[in-house]
Amino acid sequence: MTNISADQNVKLCCASFYQSDIARMLLGDVFHPGGLALTERLGAAIGLERNDSVLDVACGRGASAVHLAMRFGCRVTGLDYGLENLAAAGDHARSKGVTRLASFRQGDAEGLPLEDGTFDAVISECSFCTFPNKGTAAVEMARVLRPGGRLGLTDMTITGRLPEDVRSLLAWVACVAGAGAPEDYVATFQEAGFTGFTIEDHGEALLDIVNSVRRKLLGVELAARLGRLSLGNMDLTEGKRLARRAVELIEAGVIGYTLIVARKG
Ligand SMILES: C[S@@+](CC[C@H](N)C(=O)[O-])C[C@H]1O[C@@H](n2cnc3c(N)ncnc32)[C@H](O)[C@@H]1O
Repeated sequence: MTNISADQNVKLCCASFYQSDIARMLLGDVFHPGGLALTERLGAAIGLERNDSVLDVACGRGASAVHLAMRFGCRVTGLDYGLENLAAAGDHARSKGVTRLASFRQGDAEGLPLEDGTFDAVISECSFCTFPNKGTAAVEMARVLRPGGRLGLTDMTITGRLPEDVRSLLAWVACVAGAGAPEDYVATFQEAGFTGFTIEDHGEALLDIVNSVRRKLLGVELAARLGRLSLGNMDLTEGKRLARRAVELIEAGVIGYTLIVARKG
């Protein structure tokens, strides 16, 4: 029998959630607040240009990688832990005719299977918060960037302490569990050798996606009742309560969504 470490379990659990029918139903193909409009803002904020070589760490189904390749003419490598989503990412690139610009490979953000100094830019959307060893992931992102290369991140943030009733649900939303305050992320990336930070608040994008998920949870409930969808071990009642609480916490400024840009020093 193979022994899976707690950290590996978090990664597998996250990858498997984002490959589930429920994630697709609730979020579509783009698994981050702000959708491709915020991806495009991120691309502009890090000054992407034609022929830049970009790494998208934890690329999910490849929507952002393909979008950036089409919009900026850059070459994007998407990396993710989840094989099924990577297969879908390859299909998406083929369907858009950008396989020369967007390619995908399996790997772990905390041990990138890539050479030092390969990329002009590294991005990661709504994923850094899920990595158990953020310092290691930040060092890996710095390692694969060329000197002066750019970092662009959008991610969930938590300022202060999450209330107990929300903490108890964290196994289901590993994403929120690992989030920190924007200044925590900055400190982690500073330690990894990044400088020149710019931060933008995109809390409104998080509110939009949570409200959209709340509406869609009603559809999920109906589909499950009609036997058209298996909920697996998902507790829908708790899911609905969490979504409601998430809106309150976003409005109170406890949970947020932040764009961070920096440069490898
Ligand atoms: C919230 S989704 C975001 C996906 C994509 N960035 C997007 O915005 O659509 C989180 C992604 O992180 C991936 N992931 C989690 N841990 C990972 C790790 N250690 N290395 C690589 N990918 C990881 C999951 O498989 C999942 O696709």
